[in-house]
Amino acid sequence: MGTAAKRIGQGARRASNQPEKITLVKARGAHVWDDKGNKYIDCTSQAWSNNLGANDPRVIKAAMAQMRQITHIRPNFGSEPYNALCDKLREIAPKDLHQIGFCLHGSLAAEMAIKLAFKNKPGAKKLLVLQDAYHGRSITTMAASWPHPNNPFLPIQPNCFVRVPHPDPYRPRDGMTPDQDSALCLQLIEDTIVKGVDGGVAALMMESIQGNGGHIQFPLTFYKGVRKLCDKHGILMIMDEIQTGFGRMGTMWAADYFGVTPDVLIFGKGIGGGFPLAGILADKALKWFDEGEEAPTFGQFPVSLAAALATIKAIQDDDLCNKAKDHGIYATKRLLDMQKRHRLIGDVRCPGLMVSIELVTDRNKKTPARFESQEVYRRGLNHRVLFGESRYAGLGNLIKVKPCLDISRADLARSLDVLDAVLGEIEGEEK
Ligand SMILES: Cc1ncc(COP(=O)(O)O)c(C=O)c1O
Repeated sequence: MGTAAKRIGQGARRASNQPEKITLVKARGAHVWDDKGNKYIDCTSQAWSNNLGANDPRVIKAAMAQMRQITHIRPNFGSEPYNALCDKLREIAPKDLHQIGFCLHGSLAAEMAIKLAFKNKPGAKKLLVLQDAYHGRSITTMAASWPHPNNPFLPIQPNCFVRVPHPDPYRPRDGMTPDQDSALCLQLIEDTIVKGVDGGVAALMMESIQGNGGHIQFPLTFYKGVRKLCDKHGILMIMDEIQTGFGRMGTMWAADYFGVTPDVLIFGKGIGGGFPLAGILADKALKWFDEGEEAPTFGQFPVSLAAALATIKAIQDDDLCNKAKDHGIYATKRLLDMQKRHRLIGDVRCPGLMVSIELVTDRNKKTPARFESQEVYRRGLNHRVLFGESRYAGLGNLIKVKPCLDISRADLARSLDVLDAVLGEIEGEEK
């Protein structure tokens, strides 16, 4: 057995190949620089947040202009950037999602959606979330995400969340096709709604593609089936688009991609062009918050709002949805070709620039190749490419290629060349 292979599964050894933290000092477009002057291609877009390349001059200009004017306005006053951004969001929102709330973090946006669901379903006691979901790290959203090992916050977390199963096309339940798995999960979810909980269900909250949980895209039957179940049982469908919104999937929203409109959509990350902003879009028929129910002091931070407006305009002006789509087609083709040559690549995932590969030591057993994944990340650094990693949901074997949507084709190609080369190196050493 090769050296690397012997290390698999030895959790303690895994830490040994984790590189030191890099100190970043500058970013432009798809590039970042560290404090030693090294320049990297950033395939993480800093937690998949720079859908528009970093420090875009149009965004910086808008933010600077706003800063010179007024930096802080509490939410019970109006503001020009607030009005302009709301108009823009209503223009691009799926269907009737025309009520808008802002805050500064995705976790708080998810909490806002949860609050709105209970506000609209008085008497309901539970909210369904999917196993392997990730909705944030606030007290509430940690409880709505997958079970965290050794979670010290359990005593202070709400217990309204019920985790329900979801299909996983790469690892469907025994002998099933992804669509059969989807149908089974939908039945189990319906059973849970009807007879699995005490008190009614206010909503089902799900990510459009499970990002941190392993880039799991469900079969289309599942999205459509959840929508149907929610309608049938009078519960709200909440879609967390924090990773997928603003062009990442080659469409403005995952809701557009799947043709399924939720009642509440959660956004974050890519909207701010590097400035903190998140929020929700809610169906115009829903009851909105009453005074005092949702008003974070900096929730309508005008600098972020101005930056967000410039960001969305740039995404539209530069046709970044289509760019992401084209890049995604190119990257997927390259990765599928690599899969033929690299036994470590178990699965290739897209769409758009929501790109990743799952590394396995055994394609039949689909054993997560954690050590090798960490090696890809570490060796990528030596070649000055930052790949995205995943450390969650007990897998930790995903390599993510999620740069800004306006990355040049040359930089994307170079990143994939590096991925190809380091996979070859690692596999060569394991022989
Ligand atoms: C799908 C999803 N929801 C919620 C969050 C939490 O967002 P934030 O880290 O801004 O609180 C994240 C962050 O990774 C996310 O990916």
